Amino acid sequence: MVSRHDADEPLDPGDFDAFRADAHRLLDACLDHLESARERPWRPVDAAARAALMPALPETGIGESRLARELAELVLPLGTGNTHPRFFGWVHGTGLAAGLLSEMTAAAMNSNCGGRDHGAIYVERAVIDWARRIFGFPEGASGLLTSGTSQSTLIALAAARIHVLGRQVRADGLRDAPDHVAYGAASAHSANQKAIELLGHGAQALRRIPTGGPAGGMDLDKLREQIAGDRAAGKRPFCVIATVGSVDTGACDDVAALADLCAREGLWLHVDGAFGCWARIADRPWRDLSRGIERADSLAFDFHKWMYVQYDCGAVLVRHGEAHRAAFATRPHYLEGQEEGLGGGDPWYCDYGIELSRGFRALKVWSCLRAYGIDRLANKISDNCRQAARMARLVEAAEELELGAPVVLNVCCFRYAPEGVEPAEQDALNRRIAARLQLEGSAVFSTTRLNG
Ligand SMILES: Cc1ncc(COP(=O)(O)O)c(C=O)c1O
Repeated sequence: MVSRHDADEPLDPGDFDAFRADAHRLLDACLDHLESARERPWRPVDAAARAALMPALPETGIGESRLARELAELVLPLGTGNTHPRFFGWVHGTGLAAGLLSEMTAAAMNSNCGGRDHGAIYVERAVIDWARRIFGFPEGASGLLTSGTSQSTLIALAAARIHVLGRQVRADGLRDAPDHVAYGAASAHSANQKAIELLGHGAQALRRIPTGGPAGGMDLDKLREQIAGDRAAGKRPFCVIATVGSVDTGACDDVAALADLCAREGLWLHVDGAFGCWARIADRPWRDLSRGIERADSLAFDFHKWMYVQYDCGAVLVRHGEAHRAAFATRPHYLEGQEEGLGGGDPWYCDYGIELSRGFRALKVWSCLRAYGIDRLANKISDNCRQAARMARLVEAAEELELGAPVVLNVCCFRYAPEGVEPAEQDALNRRIAARLQLEGSAVFSTTRLNG
């Protein structure tokens, strides 16, 4: 391709004053967007917007000024809709005004948080340490910010495998260890299955245990039976995955009881606490649902759901920092650390996860907690639980509505169940209601299927 541009032409703004004015206008548009979130529900992407969002590969750029306008006018209005207060679906977080400030700052810094010695690393260390204290993990536990619970789960289970099988598994793979199995509730999130698949064990290695426990968690007798049966059949159980806050009903496993069981059986206890682990900072009785998390070997959770932080930001904590590091650390010559300067700052986060280059996710969590404090966030979490409980009472009092599952946390499952309508027809009717409410801009509900 013959370029029409001089190779010496910088990519920096040619006229910084003009760029500043454009950026200020865009910032105002973003602020208006936040301020008026209540007036603007989600909106479908029409054909014209789709075409505009998917132009041909731009050979010649439009410049920063037109770009700023395009961002404000084309892109900004087309969010998922989760900034709206009546967006109730899929445990989506709303984001925070503080996030706008931190994302802007992080973009200006463009830090690479894979490692080395610079400010962003210390921000992430602070955030990990706060999380470690909140969830009661010991000093020496390790942690990492991730794209979300899906990535955190993969990392945690990789650490579990190193802890159980030893470091050699990194060299040998599963050739000599094909029979390892893990356990989770029938309702455990698909992210757990994906992690088991990606680690090469196959989806069947995740044993799905029927639920029926007090807060909708695993039936512990059935879990014990399955473990005994697997051992008798020559399988090697290595991990139990507890869920605190299942995505469809908010059900919680009894983590404390599972910690006892895992201690007796010599199994790694991983907790999928994506959103529900934040019950830990809520008032009683919700706080009690998190009892035992402090005894887990690993915890995967999100800041981008119930802690309101902008997407994406999840985290993983691992009790055994050395197993965590052993699962990922790889330092070829070009990544050797140095005594001082940028090459210092050990430990490097690239030794605790999949990514070498990583963005400054920590700043949005740090900013959220600096701006609002854990106390205010805890109030919001308790309040959401109260709202879900209130909604359950309203559903129960309404003649044609039916509660789908007990409300234990912040999720209320219900359906419109008019008399004389067949179940299959009811399903279709409820899906239509959810779609209609969404399309007319009233409220967003997500749908699921419980007990068939
Ligand atoms: C219980 C649970 N586990 C795992 C996940 C996956 O998390 P993420 O979307 O952050 O990867 C979710 C997402 O909703 C979830 O609710």
